[in-house]
Amino acid sequence: MAAVAKERLKSPRARLFVALDLPAETREGLVAWGREALGDPALRPVAPESLHITLAFLGYRPEKEIEAIAAAVEESAAPAPWVELRDPEQRPPRGRTRLYALPAVSPGAEALQAGLEQRLVEAGFYEPEKRPFWPHVTVARVRPEARGSRRPSVVSEPPGPIPEELQEPRLAVRMALYRSVLQPSGARYVPLAQVELPG
Ligand code: 2AM
Repeated sequence: MAAVAKERLKSPRARLFVALDLPAETREGLVAWGREALGDPALRPVAPESLHITLAFLGYRPEKEIEAIAAAVEESAAPAPWVELRDPEQRPPRGRTRLYALPAVSPGAEALQAGLEQRLVEAGFYEPEKRPFWPHVTVARVRPEARGSRRPSVVSEPPGPIPEELQEPRLAVRMALYRSVLQPSGARYVPLAQVELPG
């Protein structure tokens, strides 16, 4: 048996990330906008409950660390940050688009991310990304060109701008530790711990 598989048997692992949850009203507004704007058949809109700003993607961690990671998330809590969403951008910026995301303007979320990152790194749960934090909400991923292919399809109708009211500042509501369960239909995110942020 491969060494990796043996390691998994000894210590079950979970694919984890920490995100900033947006108010239900904002998510509903994004879903309503997306019905038209993300209508291209090449696009797979993100599920309403999965519209969030990722603060730290931890990757696979031993399940036994979950409690301590949740505690680090709780200790990083701060007053709820204001978040302003902007019009969709494609990623990568050139070549075939893999996803569309709304950039988020939010010095508060950046401060929250920095504090969380520091705690997680100190505790040995997280290796920081080399690129700077880019606060964003992914709204759609591009389906593969063919079954099993890694190449995204061509998007003929990219999403246009979001309505003005969705650009207005909103208070984020909570930080949550999620487990990402990979399925053929796409990832499902299961909240393991939630920390409400005081408004
Ligand atoms: P994205 O929405 O911009 O793709 C769960 O996969 C969440 O963690 C997603 O919201 C995803 O952000 C984020 N994430 C960040 N880095 C990731 C990585 N290397 N692999 C998978 N997801 C990542």
